[in-house]
Amino acid sequence: MDVGIPSTAGPMVKAEGVHKRFGRHEVLKGVNLEVATGEVCCVIGPSGSGKSTFLRCINHLEKIDNGRLWVDGQLVGYVQRGEKLYERKPRDVAAQRREIGMVFQQFNLFPHMTALENVMEAPVRVRRETRATAREHGVRLLDRVGLASHLDKYPTQLSGGQQQRVAIARALAMRPKLMLFDEPTSALDPELVGEVLDVMRQLALDGMTMVVVTHEMGFARDVGDTVVFMDDGAVIESGNPQDVLANPRHERTRAFLQRVLSPTPKPS
Ligand SMILES: Nc1ncnc2c1ncn2[C@@H]1O[C@H](COP(=O)(O)OP(=O)(O)OP(=O)(O)O)[C@@H](O)[C@H]1O
Ligand SMILES: [Mg+2]
Repeated sequence: MDVGIPSTAGPMVKAEGVHKRFGRHEVLKGVNLEVATGEVCCVIGPSGSGKSTFLRCINHLEKIDNGRLWVDGQLVGYVQRGEKLYERKPRDVAAQRREIGMVFQQFNLFPHMTALENVMEAPVRVRRETRATAREHGVRLLDRVGLASHLDKYPTQLSGGQQQRVAIARALAMRPKLMLFDEPTSALDPELVGEVLDVMRQLALDGMTMVVVTHEMGFARDVGDTVVFMDDGAVIESGNPQDVLANPRHERTRAFLQRVLSPTPKPS
């Protein structure tokens, strides 16, 4: 699969002291993080710890209040002149965002379009690709996610797992250099989770840089190059999956893992 070509040799994502507040509620309290190019970074942590907010900051769906955030060596949403930061123009922000694919828990496919039309839409409208080019690429991507025989189906004719794979193909159609996933399998029936994780695993093998917020600890362990544990708006610890998941250094990480890894007690 063709994946985006990074323009610099530095990290794909770098966050330095990222702060974000909603009103008086400080949700990110100085997030520091680096994701190397070609790396899969899995973000875990309790509900409300700021994982989604952080992902949304990476592609500037949320404005940060303090700190710095770079994608592929470029400040996200701002340009720096001397010591001062200036906001980028909306069209420059849009251009930055186009290079970052995002997949959410909810698939958000266009209901009135077939799988292939969903995948072709943004390349034609935003990237001004010809329909022929977008179609050829779209067919290839849908084949790649195992949906070659479903090109002309509408979202309601597809299972949740198939819809999510269309959503992944749709994000890839924009030829992103970075993919963000926010709990992509959380809305799926358990038997459909594997097919989506398999597609993500293959994407990782193909060299895509990925930040994946997930509750799938098996995926984090097997596919993640790093695992980042967030709690209360900050990165508590990060490292290779074996260390973080099997030998966490922090009590908060241990307590979280114990909660998510222990089987749910059966109702009596
Ligand atoms: N647009 C918003 N306005 C106000 N508060 C918000 C907004 N978005 C998120 N928050 C708050 O920020 C905090 C962090 O939310 P966030 O969605 O980032 O957590 P999360 O780690 O992704 O949780 P989950 O695992 O449940 O998805 C929460 O307390 C949430 O209520
Ligand atoms: Mg979330």
